[in-house]
Amino acid sequence: MVSMTKHIDTIAVHAGREDFQELGVHSAPLDFSSTYPIKDLQSGNESIGGLAAGNATADSPIYARLHNPTVYRYECAFAKLENADAGIAFASGMAAIHAVLMSLKIRAMDDGIERNHIVAVRPIYGCTDHLLCSGLLGFDVDWVKENEIKDAVRADTALVIIETPANPTLSLVDIADIVAQAGKVPVMVDNTFATPLLQSPLALGATFAVHSATKYLGGHGDVMAGMVATNESWAAHIRQIRILTGGNMHPMAAFLLLRSLPTLPMRVERAQQNAIYLAEKLDAHPAVSKVHFPGLTACDPRGLVAKQMKGPGSVIAIEMAGGYDAAASTMMRTKLFVPAVSLGSTDSLIEHPAGLTHNIVAEDARESSGITENMLRLAVGIENQDDLWADLEAALI
Ligand SMILES: Cc1ncc(COP(=O)(O)O)c(C=O)c1O
Repeated sequence: MVSMTKHIDTIAVHAGREDFQELGVHSAPLDFSSTYPIKDLQSGNESIGGLAAGNATADSPIYARLHNPTVYRYECAFAKLENADAGIAFASGMAAIHAVLMSLKIRAMDDGIERNHIVAVRPIYGCTDHLLCSGLLGFDVDWVKENEIKDAVRADTALVIIETPANPTLSLVDIADIVAQAGKVPVMVDNTFATPLLQSPLALGATFAVHSATKYLGGHGDVMAGMVATNESWAAHIRQIRILTGGNMHPMAAFLLLRSLPTLPMRVERAQQNAIYLAEKLDAHPAVSKVHFPGLTACDPRGLVAKQMKGPGSVIAIEMAGGYDAAASTMMRTKLFVPAVSLGSTDSLIEHPAGLTHNIVAEDARESSGITENMLRLAVGIENQDDLWADLEAALI
């Protein structure tokens, strides 16, 4: 029998287009309005109340900080990919992570239980690490190893944070095990590196999947955006935070994300094929002392790719046998790999995590989580694999 459930690559093509026939359009309508005419005061009043309470829609959008139809269109499409009740869109990945953290405070105000403790596993993206360590948001953070979560969770623990595959070392964390250790405490998984195509944290019991949509979801290096996938009850809190702090996604970003969505599966698959090819070549190259890539058996002794992912993704970290100098020089010698932070674009990028993306992380934290001075991070794009290898081979010293 033919299954009526569509595959994710079909969903990616059709999500966000459900009303196109009715609207008579073939591309997503882009609404730049900052404010909206109100039909009458009574319904305007009800709409503003509903949106402020965290509802996803109302009869009138009222004001673009409260609701934008193009952004909402992308949120609904994205939620289908993450198999979530709701997607909530932000101006950047950091704005999305900030909103999840602040929503914990609303939840605490709602049920009258103060919870300011967070348990987190390193490594994670440098700015997330720094935001947590800075104390700016008033959380007390315990950094623990993966198998120490259960002991670290307290009565006032608000959240457990993990990133898998982790930026920049590509280390993997067992999501289902973390959820089990966390018990009733919600778990947030940064799913940026995996994308909804390769990993579904909510299906494994996580409460939040967050993304820097600037990466694969945008996919062309031309949009800053962040997404949260969660259940409807948390989504309402997160929308309230977005209204109060104003970190909304711009409608143009939502349009670009809708435009990128149909090709996401192809881009993810092609970049991954390239990365698998390059990781093996790099592993055999004398200038490289270590390759970190979930697709190599040595990097995934617990078989987590098979357990919780559909593939290893397309980011590789390498350690240079020639140390920092070799890393600094290799990064500037590639011609196709652009020396730049970020990842998930059609073109390949190369960067030095200790000096750039994770420069803001305390030195001892960098060292203990394996972010070494001789490490380079390769964000593999969709170019021809032999051209990419020729580029790296010529640059490696
Ligand atoms: C894994 C991960 N999470 C979050 C972020 C932050 O996203 P943004 O730069 O869109 O704010 C990044 C950025 O590089 C990232 O790599």
